[in-house]
Amino acid sequence: MSQQKSLRVGFLGFGTVGSGVFRMLQDNYAAVTDRIGFPVEIVKIGIRDLSKSRDVDQSLLTDDLESIVNDPSIDVVLELIGGIDPAEKLVETALLNKKSVVTANKELMAKQGSRLVHLAKEGQLDLHFEAAVGGGIPLIQPIKHQLSGNDVLKLIGILNGTCNYILTRMDLEGSDLAEVLKDAQALGFAEADPTNDVEGFDTLYKLAVLTAIAYGKLPDVSGIYRQGISGLKSEEFKYAEILGYKIKLLGIVEPVADGKVLARVHPTFVPLSHPISSVNGVNNAVWLHGDFVGDIMFSGKGAGGDPTASAVVGDLIDVGRNMAANGPGSAIPFGVGLETESINELSSGYYLRIRVNDQPKVLGEIAMVFGEQEVSLSAMEMKVLDPLAKVGEIVFLTHKCKEKNFQQAITELKKLASVRSIEAFLRVEDDRL
Ligand code: HSE
Repeated sequence: MSQQKSLRVGFLGFGTVGSGVFRMLQDNYAAVTDRIGFPVEIVKIGIRDLSKSRDVDQSLLTDDLESIVNDPSIDVVLELIGGIDPAEKLVETALLNKKSVVTANKELMAKQGSRLVHLAKEGQLDLHFEAAVGGGIPLIQPIKHQLSGNDVLKLIGILNGTCNYILTRMDLEGSDLAEVLKDAQALGFAEADPTNDVEGFDTLYKLAVLTAIAYGKLPDVSGIYRQGISGLKSEEFKYAEILGYKIKLLGIVEPVADGKVLARVHPTFVPLSHPISSVNGVNNAVWLHGDFVGDIMFSGKGAGGDPTASAVVGDLIDVGRNMAANGPGSAIPFGVGLETESINELSSGYYLRIRVNDQPKVLGEIAMVFGEQEVSLSAMEMKVLDPLAKVGEIVFLTHKCKEKNFQQAITELKKLASVRSIEAFLRVEDDRL
């Protein structure tokens, strides 16, 4: 047994997650102490702005973040700042100074995770990042350990609580995105600058991290196709309901030929029969199909101070247990350079909504274009929008076809005089198509 008297912790960042971790360590002090074998002692809390008031012992606070990663008395650093700069340098310095690190930083892990985990491994340290993906939902550890004997044949995630909240309300209320986003910001669900969430970057970083765990190597984030939810209109939710689907922002990865994966982030039609279609509000979920485990889904609160604190404290207890056993860290390295396939090679169903002139032969001309591109239709809805102006709207659902063929069909449809506009298209994740 170790002679250690306490696990000495330094915080980098004290926002929603940092203060959640602080509170959890206080509220659950006895349980955490019991599980590690000695108490956790908070030694320093690094923040950017000392003038902001914080409800903690002021002597713990410092704006000298470097002093925390260079403090020889600190065993573990909790990196809860987010982003690359200065988080990357601070984590690297902490590891080089023989401190284990727990981080909630998805962008850092998606871009520099392999290098940093290798650094931890070399130093026989821990670098844990359960909180980087899915807030409080255990995902990294089960995929890394209990499921690691499986070939993951597909992984699908709702990885952004803000987007899922917005999409759920658009679905329930028929509201426009801008309206719901404003509400979400007022309620504190969405950031003042929601670009990272709404444009799919947050989902992309989380998908990259899950891909590294499931397939052993990080893909370059530029190889992951990304489309956010900002272009979605309320009409798509009405047609989704008619056709038996929900619209979700999904991160999807699957192995394809030659050791590559096809990884993508986009709003998607999901059939009501798929369990992920009923994950609503700020909840997140990861569904995967493993060759031996079959279908499995994890779900729960994917954002917010308390759920994310739960994941950080779980990781911290792991670090403490390793120290108590005088063992080396349990960092499991992953490589880089996982090759990604182009979205053009995707085989998927598609939803398409177009506006047309309400006149003879329109349908025949459109059917011809689809036929020439080997795109087969599965369902169709049609209505006259304006009888005087002779404007009609047609919605198509295709069987699975190649993305490049579908895109070529859209290019050809745009050339038809009878097609007024391509209003929307979405990929459909439906094995029945
Ligand atoms: N902004 C993220 C979300 C939470 O809305 O899910 C932090 O990863």
